[in-house]
Amino acid sequence: VTARQRLRADVARYLVLFDRPVSRYRRMRTVMGTEAIWAIAVFRFGQYVYFDANRLTRLFLKPLYEWSAKMVGLAVGIHLFPDTTIGPGFYIGHHGGIWISPLATLGANCNISPGVVIGVAGQGRDKGPVLGDRVWVGPGAVITGEVKVGSGAVIAANTLVTANIPENAVAIGVPARIISYSGSGKLIRVAAPPAA
Ligand SMILES: CC(C)(COP(=O)(O)OP(=O)(O)OC[C@H]1O[C@@H](n2cnc3c(N)ncnc32)[C@H](O)[C@@H]1OP(=O)(O)O)[C@@H](O)C(=O)NCCC(=O)NCCS
Repeated sequence: VTARQRLRADVARYLVLFDRPVSRYRRMRTVMGTEAIWAIAVFRFGQYVYFDANRLTRLFLKPLYEWSAKMVGLAVGIHLFPDTTIGPGFYIGHHGGIWISPLATLGANCNISPGVVIGVAGQGRDKGPVLGDRVWVGPGAVITGEVKVGSGAVIAANTLVTANIPENAVAIGVPARIISYSGSGKLIRVAAPPAA
C-alpha cells in the first residue's frame, strides 16, 4: 500500500462522519479546514518521500517535507515521523500535544486524541509500542515501552499503559487496569478495517 492510498483511507475516516455522500466541495473544505488532516497529510507525504519516491525526487522533496513537518508540528502540535508504521484509516480527533515515536507501530483505523504520547520507555530501549487495528486512545493517554495493545482495545482518557492490553479490552487509569472486554465498536465509526 502506498502512502497516497493510506492518505485516501485516512481522509475517508473524516468523511464518514457526514453519514451521507460527500460532495467534492465538502471534501475540500474538510481537508483544508481540519488541522489533524494537515498533520496526517504531511506525515504521509514524508512516507512518500522516504519510501515511495525515487532517489532524485527524494533529494528534491526532502527539504520541503522537513520544513512542512516542522511547521505543522509547531502550528498544530502533532508530531509524527515517517519511520512510524501507521496503517490506513488513521484518525486524530483534535490536535495538540500529540507525539508518536518513530519506533511505534499502529494498525489500521486507529483513533488518537489530543495529548496522546506513544513512545519508548526511556533511553537505551530500541522498541516502541505496537497497537493493533481499531485501537481508540483517549485524551492525555500515554502508551510507553515495548508493549502490545490488541486490536479493538480502548485506552481511556489519561490512562498510562506500561503493560500489554488484550484485544477489545477497555483499559483505564494509572497504571492501566482492564475494566471490560467489550471493545471499541461504539467509539470507532468504521465497519471493518480495509485490507492493509
Ligand atoms: C474509555 C471510556 C469511553 C470508557 O467508558 P465506559 O466503558 O462507558 O466506562 P464507564 O464510564 O462506565 O466507567 C467505568 C468506571 O471507570 C471509571 N472511569 C471511566 N473513565 C475513566 C478514566 N478515563 N479514568 C479513570 N477512571 C475512569 C468510571 O468512573 C467508572 O468507575 P465506577 O465503576 O467506579 O463507577 C471513558 O472512560 C473515556 O475515557 N472517555 C473519554 C471520552 C473523551 O475523552 N472524549 C473526547 C475525545 S477528544
